[in-house]
Amino acid sequence: MLSRESEKRKAPVIGIEGAPRVEQKAILIVDDDEIIRETLRDLLESKGHVVETAETAKEAMEKSKARNFNLALLDIKLPDMEGTELLKKMHSVTPRMMKVMITAHGTLKNAMDSLNFGADAYLLKPINEKELLKIVDELKLSQERLIQAERLAAIGKTAGMVGHDLRNPLQGMTSTLYLAKQALKSPKAAGMQEVAGLLDTLDGQIAYMGKIVADLQDYVRPLAPALVETSLADLIRETFSTLQVPRSIKVIVQVEKGIGNVMVDAGLMRRVLTNLTTNSIQSMPKGGRLTIRADKTRDATVIAVEDTGVGIPEEDLGKLFSPFFTTKAKGQGLGLPVCKRLVEAHGGTITAKSKPGKGSTFTIKIPVTKKG
Ligand SMILES: Nc1ncnc2c1ncn2[C@@H]1O[C@H](COP(=O)(O)OP(=O)(O)OP(=O)(O)O)[C@@H](O)[C@H]1O
Ligand SMILES: [Mg+2]
Repeated sequence: MLSRESEKRKAPVIGIEGAPRVEQKAILIVDDDEIIRETLRDLLESKGHVVETAETAKEAMEKSKARNFNLALLDIKLPDMEGTELLKKMHSVTPRMMKVMITAHGTLKNAMDSLNFGADAYLLKPINEKELLKIVDELKLSQERLIQAERLAAIGKTAGMVGHDLRNPLQGMTSTLYLAKQALKSPKAAGMQEVAGLLDTLDGQIAYMGKIVADLQDYVRPLAPALVETSLADLIRETFSTLQVPRSIKVIVQVEKGIGNVMVDAGLMRRVLTNLTTNSIQSMPKGGRLTIRADKTRDATVIAVEDTGVGIPEEDLGKLFSPFFTTKAKGQGLGLPVCKRLVEAHGGTITAKSKPGKGSTFTIKIPVTKKG
């Protein structure tokens, strides 16, 4: 049991040491009472959770915008705002984050109200540790179920679309093959040239179908990245070896000297870079510049893919990473959601910046992890 009145103890350092780990659950505790904050932190950390704390509603909003939390524990009385107000705000910004209200007996009505404002559960003070841990465990499960359900719904929708999208290149391939066979029947050298051209067309059609299938698989399958020490320069080189870059696009690769190797799943990261560079190439139908920059901060490797293409209208920026958002006639709208999923499987983040008419930059940050 926890109680409000006891002597203050020295606050430990707030925040998470190092970078977020794959699959780690993060919990935000918002309470103006330091003893409660720190006791809850000790309890939850001892169960392997990652915990941050906030003393005020303002601090809580800042922290919840700065990183993704799976769960927030919110005191109903805060110095700068009613807990229910904070709950409403948080629910509108991060609806997926589970929220549990903490309340004293006198404010039970508030607790009930808070369920209507998006809280997933409430706890009475003094907090019973077992009850809290049970709620945390159950919430983790229900959140995982929710994400899984959303993904399954998306997969169902995709199955129909993919069938439709694969049919076009398949029909194209059938006609190309027919033409190639006809050309082979011609004994002249011109026939051979024609066949070579048709084989190139087939190559493109196969690559297009391959991308559809690969994106779908990456979006659906469970991910378990096998982190291996990888050279970024090699990773970028390999990415370009499978891409067809039009002559009108100048490619610039800037890998900071001494950047060393990164711990990533090379296959997955290549898919991320392929999707980002493909988008950039597609955004520059009249040509332009594609720059890939890689450098390192103290705790992360940063890779930026920058183009001088058509850019993205501001109202679209928030939709980029949602499945099936596309402005292209032949697009699935899975490229970026896949990138996000793969980068997050590395414990990293991906963000987009763009100026319509000037170009776009996608930035990936991968936390530096130790070997093994
Ligand atoms: N570099 C970029 N420049 C301009 N717009 C972009 C860029 N990258 C993404 N977009 C916009 O975001 C949308 C979604 O991109 P995403 O890669 O997820 O799907 P897509 O490219 O449309 O289809 P696909 O599934 O084949 O990748 C695009 O349709 C485009 O409107
Ligand atoms: Mg794309």
